[in-house]
Amino acid sequence: MKDFFKRLYDLKPSDENFVQMRQFAEQHGVPIMLADSEQLLKTMIRIKKPAKILEIGTAIGYSGSLMLLCSPQSRLYTIEMDEQMIELAGQNFANNGVQDRVTIFKGDAREIVHKMTGEYDFIFLDGPKRQYVDFLPYLKSMLKKDGILMSDNVLFHGFVEGLPRLTRKHRAFGIATHLNMFLDKLMADDDFESVILEIGDGVALSVKK
Ligand SMILES: C[S@@+](CC[C@H](N)C(=O)[O-])C[C@H]1O[C@@H](n2cnc3c(N)ncnc32)[C@H](O)[C@@H]1O
Repeated sequence: MKDFFKRLYDLKPSDENFVQMRQFAEQHGVPIMLADSEQLLKTMIRIKKPAKILEIGTAIGYSGSLMLLCSPQSRLYTIEMDEQMIELAGQNFANNGVQDRVTIFKGDAREIVHKMTGEYDFIFLDGPKRQYVDFLPYLKSMLKKDGILMSDNVLFHGFVEGLPRLTRKHRAFGIATHLNMFLDKLMADDDFESVILEIGDGVALSVKK
């Protein structure tokens, strides 16, 4: 993030629980959302006030807790496969007093998403990057009209834009290729109004028409 923006985002007062969760994530290498994407997520949730939120990628429950605290009427359904993350997320949801509004679907999103049927007002896609393109039709069918899909890390450290210069051997080639396919499909989909923002690691915001 540019120093100019970092200084401004650092001015935002942050709840002590969230400061500690972020410190924990940094110390233990858990990839939670970046500070500027966090501001976007909070802003979107406050605008939309979604009754039902679906999140793919719970990690330690940082973004999930944020969304629920921004919108006291919302319920969160969040998917995570890592046992340790599920345990920590449960503790953090409890510490933030939102545990009664969360359902954690434990398991592999590659299986769970295909079987899901519910309808959601807001979907935060922040799980396995190679699967975004595969998830897209399922997420679209679960999103209500005027529902919002917010997809994080879609530019993947600049590797998606730099894809023509990568070889197959590059460690980012697979993920960048799949994210590139995801963005192509998303932007070509006339059922969505979408924009790609150079915020954080790249965020795509889509509204279902
Ligand atoms: C970027 S982190 C999520 C961060 C979180 N949304 C936040 O900002 O606080 C991605 C999470 O997705 C989980 N994940 C990755 N692949 C998965 C899969 N196939 N099924 C379920 N969870 C998965 C990882 O274990 C990790 O905790």
